[in-house]
This record gives sequence, C-alpha cells and structure tokens, in this order.
Amino acid sequence: MAGNPFSFIKDIIAIKTPKKSTLVLRMIVFVFTMVCGVYICSICLKQISTHGRAGFLDVPVIQKPCPEPQIEPWEIPYVHYPIPKTYSRAECACNPVRYFVILSIQRSGSGWFETLLNNHTNISSNGEIFSVKVRRSNISTIVETLDKIYNLDWLSSASKNECTAAVGLKWMLNQAEILANYKPMINATLLIPNLKQVEETTAKALEYFKSTQHIIVYYEDVVKNNTKLIDIQDFLKVPRRQLTSRQVKIHKGSISSQITNWDDVQKTLKGTHYESFLHADYRK
Ligand SMILES: *[C@@H]1O[C@H](CO)[C@@H](O)[C@H](O)[C@H]1NC(C)=O
Ligand SMILES: *[C@@H]1O[C@H](CO)[C@@H](O)[C@H](O)[C@H]1NC(C)=O
Ligand SMILES: *[C@@H]1O[C@H](CO)[C@@H](O)[C@H](O)[C@H]1NC(C)=O
Ligand SMILES: *[C@@H]1O[C@H](CO)[C@@H](O)[C@H](O)[C@H]1NC(C)=O
Ligand SMILES: *[C@@H]1O[C@H](CO)[C@@H](O)[C@H](O)[C@H]1NC(C)=O
Repeated sequence: MAGNPFSFIKDIIAIKTPKKSTLVLRMIVFVFTMVCGVYICSICLKQISTHGRAGFLDVPVIQKPCPEPQIEPWEIPYVHYPIPKTYSRAECACNPVRYFVILSIQRSGSGWFETLLNNHTNISSNGEIFSVKVRRSNISTIVETLDKIYNLDWLSSASKNECTAAVGLKWMLNQAEILANYKPMINATLLIPNLKQVEETTAKALEYFKSTQHIIVYYEDVVKNNTKLIDIQDFLKVPRRQLTSRQVKIHKGSISSQITNWDDVQKTLKGTHYESFLHADYRK
C-alpha cells in the first residue's frame, strides 16, 4: 500500500466501493491507521511528556537508551518505546511498538477482524474503548484513556505480554445499528440514502486521515483471501502468523434468505450502482 496515498484513495472510492460487498452496511471498509494521525498523536505526545516528567520525579531510574532499531529511517517517527507503569517490558523493552486505530462502522465484521488480530502474540487490539461514555466525556478522559492504551497499561482480555509490538483500539465512525437484528426488514425508502451516507462517511474518514499511514481492508477480502491478513501483519510490522478466530458466523446462507423484505430491497437497488451488492453472496 505504498506509493501516493492520493491515488490509492481515489482507487478505493472510485473502484473498490461499488465492487464489493453484501448486506447493506457490510460494504463498509475499515481503515486501519497508524496513530501518528494528526490529532490523536498530538494529544498523546503532549500527555506522554507530562507523564514522563511526573514519572521521573517519583522514580529516578535512568533508562538505558535502546539501540537503533533495524527499520527504515522514514519509519522512525512511527515507533515507540512505552514504559508501562504496571509491569516491566523485560526482554522486549527495546522492541519498537507501533500504534494503530481501526476505524469502522457497526456490522462491518470489524469485531471478527479484531479477534483475528488478537490471535497474534504481538498484537493487542483493545476493542471499542470509547463505547463507554465517561471515557469520551471530555478531552482529558479521552487523552487519559489513549495514554493508558498506548503505554501498554490498559488491562483487557486483549492485553498481551511485554512483547506487544502493535497496540490499538477500534473506533466507530457511526452508531448505526441497522443490522443488529437477526433478520432485519430494510426500509427500502431509506436504503439508497443510507448507502450514500455510509459512502460519504467513509470518504470523509479517508480524506481526514489521508496523510496518515493506512491500509484499507474489506470484510470480503479477509473472508476470501488469506493473503490479506499477511498484508495487515506486514503493515503492522509484526512477524507473520496464521491467524484464526473463535467467532462463528451467525448469518448463514444467502443474503436473500436473511432479509425479510428482500423483494423490496432488490427493486430498490436494481439499476443503481449498488446493484452488485445484491449478487455479492459470500460464504466462508
Ligand atoms: C490463536 O488461535 C489458536 C487456535 O484457536 C489458539 O490455539 C492460540 O492459542 C491462539 N493464540 C493467541 C495468542 O491467542
Ligand atoms: C472530564 O470528565 C470526567 C469524568 O466525567 C470528570 O471527572 C472531569 O472532571 C472532567 N474534566 C474536565 C476538565 O471537564
Ligand atoms: C513477539 O513476541 C515474542 C514473544 O511472545 C517475542 O519473542 C518477539 O520478540 C515479539 N516480536 C516483536 C516484533 O516484538
Ligand atoms: C421508512 O422510513 C421513513 C423515514 O423514516 C418512514 O417515514 C417510513 O414509514 C419507513 N417505512 C417503513 C416501511 O418502515
Ligand atoms: C488476494 O490479495 C492479494 C493482495 O492482498 C492480491 O494480490 C490477490 O490478487 C488476491 N487474490 C484474490 C483471489 O483475490
């Protein structure tokens, strides 16, 4: 995914979006970003530096500097050496850690995707941290939460050992729960506007993070194509592993059998550039 991010994004929006997908919101991409993105990064750095000072006052430990990592020079700003407060990184103290965020939309398969990532010994993805309201109630609580996660001090079922090499969380672009029901009835009137809105949200996110390193992952690609997970591990610079998830798919069978008013949906999408969604049945 190297090269000019602009052309890449154009690619995605122009070609990929209409090509893929099935169930309405399943079309959604998740964008996977390194957190050196603008805003998050600047608030983290600010906070880390104050923490650093406080830490040194309490514990005057002199940290031996780590040797230069064996990475490309352009990558240096993207690697970090967190010093968790709650434990020691021990033999991995000098392993560089990369920060990431998964940007996604509900019902896009990102939960399953996350369980795949968490099957890797060196990856810790901590879920939808900001679904808890108090954590996003103001900038201080957001910063505090992010600091904890990126300092490897966040304890969750996804926490790994001292050898975590990529740590992150999941962030929802919207709160749509349209497909939360087992067999939804899709409001045909709203279907096209909803699809448009999802496309716009995705485009906005891509625009916002265009200067941030990212990789775009389609649910269908992860389902169908094993090499996609290799690309993701390469992106996070963790050793390649075979990843599996314990989650099982609850929607089985063709899409037409899962939507109550399939005929309406079909009628609505026929002849639009979303028509391919009708035929995009996939099986695992
Ligand atoms: C990955 O999944 C396999 C198969 O379920 C399991 O044996 C292994 O312990 C998992 N690894 C991690 C780090 O969760
Ligand atoms: C932010 O929210 C937390 C939790 O709701 C609260 O304790 C804290 O005082 C708030 N801080 C500011 C600066 O508003
Ligand atoms: C991944 O974790 C193993 C131990 O579980 C560690 O030996 C290895 O150095 C880690 N790899 C990276 C890239 O940090
Ligand atoms: C679809 O949504 C519109 C707007 O919210 C609403 O007016 C309409 O009654 C809905 N149709 C059905 C069949 O639920
Ligand atoms: C699988 O993905 C790789 C890159 O991630 C791509 O080069 C290849 O064409 C894909 N294969 C299929 C069958 O889609």
